[in-house]
Amino acid sequence: MTDRPRVYVTRTLPGGDGPGTPLGRLREATDLEVWAGEGPVPAAELRARAAGCDGLLPMLTERIDLPFLAGCPHLRAIANMAVGYDNIDIGACTARGVLVTNTPGVLTDATADLAFTLLLAAARRITEGERAVRDGTWGPWDPNWLLGKPVAGATLGIVGPGRIGAAVARRGGGFDMRVLYHGRHAVADFPGERAASLEALLAQSDYVSMHVPLTPETALMCDAAFFARMRPHAIFVNTTRGGVVDQPALLAALRGGVIGGAALDVTTPEPLPPSDPLLTAPNIVISPHLGSATLETRTQMAHLAVDGLLAALAGQRPAHLVNPEAIDTVIEARR
Ligand code: DGY
Repeated sequence: MTDRPRVYVTRTLPGGDGPGTPLGRLREATDLEVWAGEGPVPAAELRARAAGCDGLLPMLTERIDLPFLAGCPHLRAIANMAVGYDNIDIGACTARGVLVTNTPGVLTDATADLAFTLLLAAARRITEGERAVRDGTWGPWDPNWLLGKPVAGATLGIVGPGRIGAAVARRGGGFDMRVLYHGRHAVADFPGERAASLEALLAQSDYVSMHVPLTPETALMCDAAFFARMRPHAIFVNTTRGGVVDQPALLAALRGGVIGGAALDVTTPEPLPPSDPLLTAPNIVISPHLGSATLETRTQMAHLAVDGLLAALAGQRPAHLVNPEAIDTVIEARR
């Protein structure tokens, strides 16, 4: 028996397992168990392993909902290793006094780099060109072949002017783009101009990049009407969550020439089956949710998640607490 908190981690974490690594730090302070199997931990296994735990460190692949929480009566803290937390029912956690943390900031540049990579790849038709090189259809230099779209001088519309949106805007500025943004509030020091409305942004942008979190308000917000407001040559970029996009509407917009192209790092579902009709769309570039995928970034995310979990389990207020109201539930329960 031990009085150290019991913690379950749903994947081996980047950075190794030695002293000072994210897993090493957890091993030192907690009674730790780690899912070391291939891929995400199966839901039934997660339920069984987490049932007696005080803390959980999941990935965005794990669904944490009310039935799951009901099976984990001792759970006090969940440190999601992601900035997004749409995989977690935050209301249910708050009601049960379970503190939830995320990992913002450390993945901003990596994700913005990926968004801009996708933007450039779609603009300059890199994946079509690469396919031609590989399948032997690359013919002699042709003044009319694989003509892309200019970036310098074009307008970049950022929907969701948070940290990552601002970092993509800065990259746009570096490429001599005009930058517009749309958000609920004006953002001081945003490296771009606030559009009068979402409609105005869509009507003026040559590239539209999505940076809103997935919430009930943003789910499927990129629908047929959204695409119809974009310019016919414009390229749609999404690096946030697949759930903000109505995929059949995107496919129809691409097939019908309503928009000029799309570049996605996130889809519904993930992984996208090779038979998904989206893959037959013209002018689409898809990467497999790689936004934060550098060793440095993922290691920092793991450290930040560990910081959050250890602070919460020690009864301190974690730096990146998603549901501060849960603290009131805990205080109330102690009375
Ligand atoms: C996140 O953190 O939410 C990304 O989607 C994965 O790094």
